[in-house]
Amino acid sequence: MSTQPLRALEQALIEEFARDARGKGVAKLLAAYSSSGHEDWRAYAHFEADHYTRNLVARHAAYELIVLCWRAGQASPIHCHSQQQCWMAILDGQIEEQQYDQPVPGHAGPLTLRAARTYAQGKVAYIDDDIALHLVRPVAGRDGCSLHLYSKPIETCGIYDPATGAVQTRVMRYYSVGGVVQPR
Ligand code: SIN
Repeated sequence: MSTQPLRALEQALIEEFARDARGKGVAKLLAAYSSSGHEDWRAYAHFEADHYTRNLVARHAAYELIVLCWRAGQASPIHCHSQQQCWMAILDGQIEEQQYDQPVPGHAGPLTLRAARTYAQGKVAYIDDDIALHLVRPVAGRDGCSLHLYSKPIETCGIYDPATGAVQTRVMRYYSVGGVVQPR
């Protein structure tokens, strides 16, 4: 049996999705890991000066597990989750989430901010397309790291212009895989 907490989490998540395809117990597993003070996720943490990074820890048919690293001032674009489920556990720092209403088809105009929340280390957030669109960023002036689980893995998502609601397709890429930075 693995002695590394992150590998133990990976295995527990495989078992959880085998038990329940909707991952009822996922938030609890992610909270237990992210609130524990484990540091083995740092082997996957890479930062870039001009964009946040997506660092793959594990990928299975049921889910992908990714460490996201955010320098102060970096943010994801407002995006959907392509009909998949998304959990976000805070590993380091404080992370803000802004949720936006889906645009009404055929009506161009600014997106409506529905809610903004800040999560501290050890907290877990959940979102899917029935709830809202969102963007994520660290709180002002601070770096942060978060652990994201998508079920199932997301290949592309829609990114939204906040001023018009216009949507473009983005292909999701990993900055590193298994700790190794990928060629660009
Ligand atoms: C991503 O996976 O690149 C988006 C992270 C997020 O803002 O939820």
